[in-house]
Amino acid sequence: MRRYGKYLIYAALVALVLFVGIQFLPWGPDRNNPEVTSTPQWTDPAAQELVESACYDCHSNETNWPWYSRIAPTSWLLGRDVTEGRTHLNFSEFDRFKDGMKEETIESVQEGEMPPFTYKTMHISAWLDDQEKQIMVDEFERIFE
Ligand code: HEC
Repeated sequence: MRRYGKYLIYAALVALVLFVGIQFLPWGPDRNNPEVTSTPQWTDPAAQELVESACYDCHSNETNWPWYSRIAPTSWLLGRDVTEGRTHLNFSEFDRFKDGMKEETIESVQEGEMPPFTYKTMHISAWLDDQEKQIMVDEFERIFE
């Protein structure tokens, strides 16, 4: 039993050293928020609010970077989501995305693909019920071309 306890302490020390060590790896996001150059012509404030709270952290230049975006390894995953999300759809550079993205955006919400499950585990407001999904979909019908 005593020997087992010693191994546990070693394991905890190794874990601690690794955790501290990975903080110095240069893989974290730079947590930047580039300039907002073009926004959708919102028609429904309720829809705008829903999209801002469920999509903007990854699909806008107004990302709200949480404290765990400063700590590896969650910082790596988050940084990748935002970088990748912005390349697919960016509501802050909307003129580049409004043509041709309507169907895909509507489907991503209807099929429950977006927001991603991992995001929903950390953000209660990103759980959308059918009515909220419909409010968003109706607005997407109007703001995309
Ligand atoms: C946690 C970050 C995150 C959030 C929040 C998020 N997305 Fe995404 N989104 C991504 C990433 C990463 C991709 C690219 C990879 C993929 O498709 O899974 C993506 C891709 C997309 C695409 C491209 C097509 C597709 O399905 O691959 C659309 C459209 C989209 N998201 C819409 C939305 C909408 C609408 C919301 C809000 C209801 C939303 N996303 C919320 C990260 C996010």
